[in-house]
Amino acid sequence: MCGIAGYVGQRNAVDVVLDMIKRLEYRGYDSTGIAFPVDGELRILKRAGKLSELKAVVDDENPSSHQAIVHSRWATHGAPTDLNAHPHYDHGARIALIHNGIIENYIELKEELVRHGHIFQSETDSEVAAHIVGQEYQEGVPLEEAVRRAVKKLRGAFAFVVVSVDEPDKVVCVRNASPLVIGFGKDGENMVASDITAMLPYTKQFAILENDMVAVVTPDGVKVTNLNGRPVDLETFEANYDVKSAEKGGYDHFMLKEIHEQPDVVRQCLAGRLSEKTVTLDGLFSDHVWQEIDRVNIIACGTAYHAGLMGKYLFEKMLQLPTDVHFSSEFRYGEPILSPRSLAVFISQSGETADSLAALKLCQQHRIRTLGIVNVVGSSIAREVDKVLFTQAGPEISVASTKAYVAQAIVLMLLGIHIAQKKEMPGVRTADLVQALRNFPDAVQEALDLEGQMQEIAKKFADSSLVFFLGRRADANIALEAALKLKEIAYIPTQECPAGEMKHGPLALIDQGTLAVFGATDKEIREKLVSNIKEIQARGGHVLALTGNDDDSLDKIAEDVVKLPPCDDPYLDALVSIVPLQMLAYYMAKERGCEIDQPRNLAKSVTVE
Ligand code: AGP
Repeated sequence: MCGIAGYVGQRNAVDVVLDMIKRLEYRGYDSTGIAFPVDGELRILKRAGKLSELKAVVDDENPSSHQAIVHSRWATHGAPTDLNAHPHYDHGARIALIHNGIIENYIELKEELVRHGHIFQSETDSEVAAHIVGQEYQEGVPLEEAVRRAVKKLRGAFAFVVVSVDEPDKVVCVRNASPLVIGFGKDGENMVASDITAMLPYTKQFAILENDMVAVVTPDGVKVTNLNGRPVDLETFEANYDVKSAEKGGYDHFMLKEIHEQPDVVRQCLAGRLSEKTVTLDGLFSDHVWQEIDRVNIIACGTAYHAGLMGKYLFEKMLQLPTDVHFSSEFRYGEPILSPRSLAVFISQSGETADSLAALKLCQQHRIRTLGIVNVVGSSIAREVDKVLFTQAGPEISVASTKAYVAQAIVLMLLGIHIAQKKEMPGVRTADLVQALRNFPDAVQEALDLEGQMQEIAKKFADSSLVFFLGRRADANIALEAALKLKEIAYIPTQECPAGEMKHGPLALIDQGTLAVFGATDKEIREKLVSNIKEIQARGGHVLALTGNDDDSLDKIAEDVVKLPPCDDPYLDALVSIVPLQMLAYYMAKERGCEIDQPRNLAKSVTVE
């Protein structure tokens, strides 16, 4: 998730866009860059690292211009380096482009351009887009027409802002899935940015640019057309957010914002990785290695560990591949059995967790193949592992992990299908699983519609002194993650375990009115779960059951029932249940007046032992 912004008008555009991008830094960045025309040339300055690195370079030149674009990069293709930073320019350096999103067909386009003599400076998909626009611009058409023609060749999610040295009073922008907002200034200035946060000091008048709309932003106004050049109207609105609430997209906390981002996060996580009936993961081990691997060790902490448990469930059920999941802090001091034919998988949102890094080094000492499932590109774990799969969830600001967990579980499913393809396992119905993944973002969206029901239940149980989280098989893994959310942000003690374990001790904790949350998406062992529910109720417990909306078998049994969208796969059926449970934890914490985004005693990344 990158930050992009552009300005054209009476002020010094360089100062304005540097101020705008500062307000987008919550979107995360590992490099920044700026482009502006000066003395008939397109000046492009870009630096890896913090915004202050770029600012120092710009201050040295102290430039002035009435048109500028700026970018803060959250790397997806290529590490955070000066060369990979945006803006990117075309073959003839007549245009500069900044991009937020992922272009799925950039490899084939790049190969074609190289065959026609194009030379590339970076590893990014964005630079390919700049060359495509530049190629169309060579025809002498206006910049907006070059953008319209170029976009028709691209597949994926993107928002572009483009400038040309030949048209210094114009900023052209277009989007498909990635966000872009137009800001209408007063006194001959207009602007565009990833969201309104960046523009609030300059205007309160905005319009959301819709998909496949191309906007020409000049000091005199904004003209919008569709991809065929036909004019379309923009619906403007006034926003009176303050900057802080705007960074949260109008939500009260980053956690709730990130919960609601999950449908798009799953789309981003899947982007470029699904073909018609297969999974396409580039840059992993060669085929013979996958044939050889006969055991997986997943190593992680906290929420990432819980995602690892989902991986174990999946790899053993789908691939019959023995899989162990280890707490990094235990693994690094234990005596792990590490066979040369095993694969060590490190799951980490931050990529900087000290225990996971130490465990990784232990595996490297034993010359074990390592694969990372990481969110932060350029992080230590991402750089150290042999191979890495990025979750592409965008920056996760709230300490309590939500969207990263779902993205980790999705990447594990992609990896499982990839291994099935490499091991040529005919029993794995790859095409059906790929279709279920394609449909999953919509299921997550439907699960978000349960927010009102979860708020009501949260009100009822916010004063709980103990909450049970129970389930069987994949639902048991979800129970652990749901319990951690509640502990972390509402500071409510929880008891979580496989439902069949209750009788072996935890049942003693059930008291009159104790809330017991049952994940009940697994239909195969339903009657076992029903007897566990009755054991709780017989001792005064209050049962909240989460099950598919095609299943009414618990309607007359549990006190509260949450109905989930079926996902055509038991792994995804269980995974989607974490969405209402994230909201349950959030609203119970809110009822209790907790801090939520920065819970007491906790840090977003535990970079010390
Ligand atoms: C989860 O909500 C917590 N923030 C914590 O358990 C976290 O998952 C754990 O510290 C691992 O962090 P990582 O994924 O960055 O390695």
